[in-house]
Amino acid sequence: MFRILDARQLASDVKCFRIDAPLVARHRQPGQFVIIRLSETGERIPLTMANADRAAGTIELIVKAIGKTTRELCKKNAGDTISDVMGPLGNPTEIIKAAHAVLVGGGVGTAVIYPLAQTLRDGGSFVSAITGGRTRELVVLEAELRNVCDVVYACTDDGSYGFRGTVADKLRELIDPARRRRESSIAPERHANAGAACRPVEVVYCAGPVPMMKAIAELTRPAGIKTIVSLNPIMVDGTGMCGGCRVTIDGQAKFACVDGPEFDGHAVNFAELADRLTAYRVQEKLALDRMEHECDMAT
Ligand SMILES: Cc1cc2nc3c(=O)[nH]c(=O)nc-3n(C[C@H](O)[C@H](O)[C@H](O)COP(=O)(O)OP(=O)(O)OC[C@H]3O[C@@H](n4cnc5c(N)ncnc54)[C@H](O)[C@@H]3O)c2cc1C
Ligand code: FES
Repeated sequence: MFRILDARQLASDVKCFRIDAPLVARHRQPGQFVIIRLSETGERIPLTMANADRAAGTIELIVKAIGKTTRELCKKNAGDTISDVMGPLGNPTEIIKAAHAVLVGGGVGTAVIYPLAQTLRDGGSFVSAITGGRTRELVVLEAELRNVCDVVYACTDDGSYGFRGTVADKLRELIDPARRRRESSIAPERHANAGAACRPVEVVYCAGPVPMMKAIAELTRPAGIKTIVSLNPIMVDGTGMCGGCRVTIDGQAKFACVDGPEFDGHAVNFAELADRLTAYRVQEKLALDRMEHECDMAT
């Protein structure tokens, strides 16, 4: 059993959990994930480790309640337990040395890009982060990103906060040469490498919904900007055995759990990924309806 030490609501349907998992914390590197089960008979779901504290033996998970298991998890609080936490799984993020790196996160995808910021900065990169959500309430981890990035752009589709538009709209501005010249005036005292803000974007790390990652990859492709995306296919065992997480990269079949979850965004077959993610829609809806019915009966 793994004890939840702390549970913090980040938005109405997004919660951050600090979990006691010393062995996982000891080996975790940015970009890796765990597969959890709430109970012995529960579904296995993958979640990225947004943070880990080796000394304290804890990991942090940021979870958006969208279906049966994530809703059940988001009802848990400090003192509750989780049956299994298996990991770390997947490959750590490939850290590319770049004068200017941009992190793009949509919704809880921000939990995936957040741990990269400090590592990239320690390597001498000027780090810009773009975090977005449909509305103000869905922009998560902005304050945390501000602590570890040189510049943070918060975006909302409805304009209720920060930049009005999608994260792709903001990235389009950043890779525009005229805009970069204007950026050169950003807070030069905050970073020894501040001039890098107006240098061309050399690498983009991106995590979020599939249409968002596709849009970012299409934007950076003509500019030849290396773009790494963190893929979120359906995973079951997380060990390369079940085939559930198969994705096509550059025409070749890969298993995201052992070959990824991060891949070259310009080589991903996003249409296939989007299609495979809908494979169990009927069963997912049935499971959620059944859970809600049971809750109604209990009250
Ligand atoms: C490597 C990886 C890292 C992830 N990290 C996070 C994270 O940090 N925070 C977060 O909130 N979510 C994360 N996800 C997505 C998360 O796993 C799904 O939201 C969760 O499995 C949904 O389960 P559910 O029972 O609540 O919803 P369901 O109603 O069962 O499913 C809703 C949707 O979630 C997806 N999904 C369902 N089952 C799985 C599964 N076993 N594996 C992957 N996707 C599934 C499908 O798109 C499905 O349509 C990650 C996914 C992957 C692959
Ligand atoms: S989750 Fe089973 S092969 Fe990747």
